[in-house]
Amino acid sequence: MLVSSSDPLLQPYTLKHLTLRNRIIVTSHEPAYPEEGMPKDKYRAYHVARAKGGIAMTMTAGSAAVSRDSPPVFNNVLAYKDEVVGWLKKMTDEVHEHGAAIMIQLTHLGRRTGWSKGDWLPVVSPSHNREASHRAFPKVIEDWDIARIIKDFGDAAERMKAAGMDGIELECYGHLLDQFISPATNELDGPYGPQSIDSRLRFLFDTLREIRKRVGTEFIVGVRYTADEVMENGITKADGLEISRRLKTSGLVDFLNIIRGHIDTDAALTDVIPVQGMPSAPHLDFAGEIRAETRFPTFHAARIPDVATARHAIASGKVDLVGMTRAHMTDPNIVRKIIAKREDDIRPCVGATYCLDRIYQGGDAYCIHNPATGRETTMPHDIPAAGEKKRVVIVGAGPAGLEAARVAGERGHEVTVFEAAAEAGGQVRLTAKSKRRSEMIGIIDWRMAQCQRLGVIFRFNTYAEASDIESLSPDVVIIATGGLPHTEVLKEGNDLVVSSWDILTGDVKPGSNVLLYDDAGDHPALMAAEVITQAGSKVEIMTPDRSFAPDVMGMNLVPYMRALQKHDVTFTVTFRLESVVKDGNLLKAVIGSDYGGVRKERSFDQIVVNHGTRPLDELYFALKPHSRNLGEVDYAALIAGKPQKTATNPAGRYMLFRIGDAVAARNTHAAIYDALRLVKDI
Ligand SMILES: Cc1cc2nc3c(=O)[nH]c(=O)nc-3n(C[C@H](O)[C@H](O)[C@H](O)COP(=O)(O)O)c2cc1C
Ligand code: SF4
Repeated sequence: MLVSSSDPLLQPYTLKHLTLRNRIIVTSHEPAYPEEGMPKDKYRAYHVARAKGGIAMTMTAGSAAVSRDSPPVFNNVLAYKDEVVGWLKKMTDEVHEHGAAIMIQLTHLGRRTGWSKGDWLPVVSPSHNREASHRAFPKVIEDWDIARIIKDFGDAAERMKAAGMDGIELECYGHLLDQFISPATNELDGPYGPQSIDSRLRFLFDTLREIRKRVGTEFIVGVRYTADEVMENGITKADGLEISRRLKTSGLVDFLNIIRGHIDTDAALTDVIPVQGMPSAPHLDFAGEIRAETRFPTFHAARIPDVATARHAIASGKVDLVGMTRAHMTDPNIVRKIIAKREDDIRPCVGATYCLDRIYQGGDAYCIHNPATGRETTMPHDIPAAGEKKRVVIVGAGPAGLEAARVAGERGHEVTVFEAAAEAGGQVRLTAKSKRRSEMIGIIDWRMAQCQRLGVIFRFNTYAEASDIESLSPDVVIIATGGLPHTEVLKEGNDLVVSSWDILTGDVKPGSNVLLYDDAGDHPALMAAEVITQAGSKVEIMTPDRSFAPDVMGMNLVPYMRALQKHDVTFTVTFRLESVVKDGNLLKAVIGSDYGGVRKERSFDQIVVNHGTRPLDELYFALKPHSRNLGEVDYAALIAGKPQKTATNPAGRYMLFRIGDAVAARNTHAAIYDALRLVKDI
C-alpha cells in the first residue's frame, strides 16, 4: 500500500535494504499475550491487525528474554527457546503479507526482574543495588555470566533472523545492557567497570559484535537506549550524545531508537512513558537533537498520540520514524484512516494507561476503550453489518450504552438511546471534570461522533419509563443505566457520611479535616482526595486493604501521589471504619481492624465513603417479565461469539439485556467490553 501523497507521514522510508511504506511505527511493547512464553494466535492476530491497518512497521515483543536468568516480569516472549522460531515465522509471514515490516526487541533484564520465577536463578547486575520496582537483590555479575549472556544474545539474534524478522533492536534502558553503562548501577572492577565510557560501553559493544558475527552485516540491528537518564549519577546528556556517536561510527548498528529518562521506579517510568494529563511528546525535541547530531536513522515514541503531533515529528525532521504505540492499541487503523482522509474517525488514545498498568499486575494489556485489542481472534475492530435490521433501544448514554449504540449502529440497526441527564458520558464525564483526567472525555466524544454518523437517535433529559421503551416496539432493549454510589457500609452513622461522588460533583463542599474511607480502591477516592486537598483541607485516606488504591495501579498512581504528597495527606492501611457518631459539631469515627483487637476513636469534620456503586436496575426489573429471554444472557453463546437466542418466555415482546455497572460495579473497560461482545452479534 504505497500511496502518492504529500503528507510527510505517508512518505516511504528506506532503512538499509528495507523500504517502509510510511513513517508510522509501533515500537516494541510487550502486551503480555504470549502463551507458555510463545507468540501464538492471540499475539499474532494483534500484530497482524496493525499491519492490516497500514502501519509501516510493527516492532514486536518488548523485552524478549535471551537468557534463562532473565525471567519475564510480565509474560514476555522467551527468545532463548528454539521453538520460538516457528511461532515467530508464522507472525512475520502474515505481517509481511499485509505489507508491513516487522522487528523484535531482545533483552536481558538484569536486575529488573525477580528470582522467584521461571527457573529460580539469581538475578544478575553489575552491582548489588536493588531496583525499587522489581525489588530483587542481584548477584554481582561474573566473567562467566558476561560470556554466557553475550553468547545468549547471539543465539537469540540468530533465531530472530531464522524467523524472518526484518531486524532486531536491543533494549538498553533499565535493563542489563545499560546497567553497565549507567554509573548508578555499575560498580564492577575490571574491564567492564564504570571507570570510563569505553569500559561502561564494553558489554554493549561486545554483544553487538557477537550479534554481527551471527547474523552478518545485512541483517538490521538497532539499539533502543536512554541517551540521558535525567538522574543523579546516571547517564548524562553528554554521555548520551557520545554513546549515539559511537553507535553510529561503530558500523554495528543501523538505527537509534531514543529514550530519555530512567525506569527504576513507577514515577520515573511514567516520565519516560507519560500518562494522561502529562505533556505530549516531551522527549521529541531531545530525539531531534540526537538525530541532528548523528544524522543517523532515528526512531522515537513517547506520548505522540495524535496524527498532528506525529506529522510534526516527521515534518520537522526530528525523527525518521515516529512511534504511535498506545495510539495503535486504541485504533489499529490509523494509517488506513489517514490515507482515506478520515482522521476524525480515529479512536483517540486518551492516555489512560490501563494497558501498561495491567501488565505490571500480571494481566494482559487491554485498552480502556477498545476491547477488541488483544482479543482479535474473537472481537472485531471493524463491525460487520447484520443480516436483518432491528429496532434497538438503549437506556443510558455512559460508556456502555454509547458503545452498544455505536456497535448497533454499525450493524445497521435503528437505534434510540434514552439518557436521563442532559449530556452523554455517565461516570466518565465525572472523571473528566478533573483537569488532569479531562482527556477521558475522548471516550465519550468519539462515540458520540460515531453515533451521529450512524444516525443514532438520542433522547436526553429523559428518564425512560417502561412505557416509553415499549411504545417504540423494540426488538432488543439494552439497559445501561449504570449505578449510584453506595455508602451504607457502617454499623451506625450511614446518614452522617457523604460519598466520593458528592465531592467530585461539587454537590458537597470539602470539610477542613476529612477522613476519606476507601473501601473500593478505585479512582474516585483519590480524585476526591485531590479535590479536598485543592480546597486547602487536610485528608486522611484510610482503607481496610493491605495497600491503598489497588485498582488505580502503578503508573496511574504517580500523578495522584505527585498531587497529594505535597499537601496534608496521610495514608492509613489495614484499618476499617466501623461507625460514625455525632460529636458536637464534629463526627467521631470508630475505627477497628479485620485483624482484630483494635478500637480507636478519632474526630473529623467530614467523613467521605468510597465504596463503589450499586446498579440502577429498576427499569430492567420492570421490563424483565415482558421480555422473551427474561433478561437471561446465554454465557456460552456470548463467549463463543454467537447470537443470543434464549426464549424462556416465548410470549415476550423483545430481547432484554443489561450491561456495564447496571449489572455490577466494574470499570470502563468492562462496561465497553460488555457492550461490544453482546451487540456485535445482535
Ligand atoms: C503494554 C506496553 C508494554 C510495553 N513494553 C515495552 C517493552 O517491553 N520494551 C520497550 O522498549 N518498551 C515497551 N513499551 C513502551 C512502548 O514501546 C512505547 O515506548 C511507549 O508506549 C510510549 O509510546 P506511546 O506513547 O506511543 O505509547 C511498552 C508499552 C506498552 C503500552
Ligand atoms: S488504555 Fe489508555 S493509554 Fe492505553 S491504549 Fe487505551 S486509551 Fe491509550
